[in-house]
Amino acid sequence: MAEPFIRIESLVKNYTRDTQVLNVLDKLSFTVDSGDFVALMGPSGSGKTTLLNLIAGIDRPTSGRIFVGPDEVSAMSEAALAKWRSANLGFIFQLYNLVPVLTAYENVELPLLLTSLSRARRRKQVELALTVVGLSDRMAHYPRQLSGGQEQRVAIARAIATDPKLLVADEPTGDLDAKNGEEILVLLERLHHEFKKTVLMVTHDPKAASRAHRLIHLDKGVLKEDVHAARRSGWRRRWRPRPTDMIPGVSRSPRAPHGAPGSGQRS
Ligand SMILES: Nc1ncnc2c1ncn2[C@@H]1O[C@H](COP(=O)(O)OP(=O)(O)O)[C@@H](O)[C@H]1O
Ligand SMILES: [Mg+2]
Repeated sequence: MAEPFIRIESLVKNYTRDTQVLNVLDKLSFTVDSGDFVALMGPSGSGKTTLLNLIAGIDRPTSGRIFVGPDEVSAMSEAALAKWRSANLGFIFQLYNLVPVLTAYENVELPLLLTSLSRARRRKQVELALTVVGLSDRMAHYPRQLSGGQEQRVAIARAIATDPKLLVADEPTGDLDAKNGEEILVLLERLHHEFKKTVLMVTHDPKAASRAHRLIHLDKGVLKEDVHAARRSGWRRRWRPRPTDMIPGVSRSPRAPHGAPGSGQRS
């Protein structure tokens, strides 16, 4: 069997406030296959953002290990991480996080400045990324001159500029109206489908989550695979059990694989 693309082993994250230790992630272990599209749901404060930040190497685990491809993110130095992140991972935020004083073009170019690409090559990549998100006519616009949906599309262009294999998105439609949110989901689906990106998306919206191939829930620091929600939402693609997933304290429904998507049945 192929190695999983993301491998999380006994991940613990504690925050200390005054004398209190807050255990946010409690020995989390799971894997994500290459090319998968995973939705991560869970109540507010359950540690979803923390988990994404740890995978992206923006934050450090208290203990446990995180691998993305052959790289152990949890063991890299800060300098190595910045470089690794720019080449291997695109991060999409709820509030876009564009730099207000830079144009759309310059925002998308940012991660490329950490590479050794020539200026001409960078231009090509930026133009390509902005074309993919449908904004090649907005390159000289500043974020304030764009709608929320357009800002998020620029942010997605920035996330794909270096052509990373992995996209992580933290509630990417959370600040958008239904129509713009839908456009962003269509775009993420396309990046997954056509451009073969592995996508890990945090969302509160069951409709958004139903786009994914796999749904996991995070609650009280523990992960659960949500097969039932997947079925409710008309899961229409492949589903298969993952023996490599070790989710403490949770056993899967033995009926799940039979009625599951990909097995030819529609529920
Ligand atoms: N830097 C931090 N310092 C202290 N506590 C934090 C920090 N970041 C997050 N937390 C706490 O960790 C918990 C999980 O936060 P978060 O990962 O943002 O949850 P979610 O994204 O699921 O809403 C919350 O209780 C939050 O208050
Ligand atoms: Mg969050």
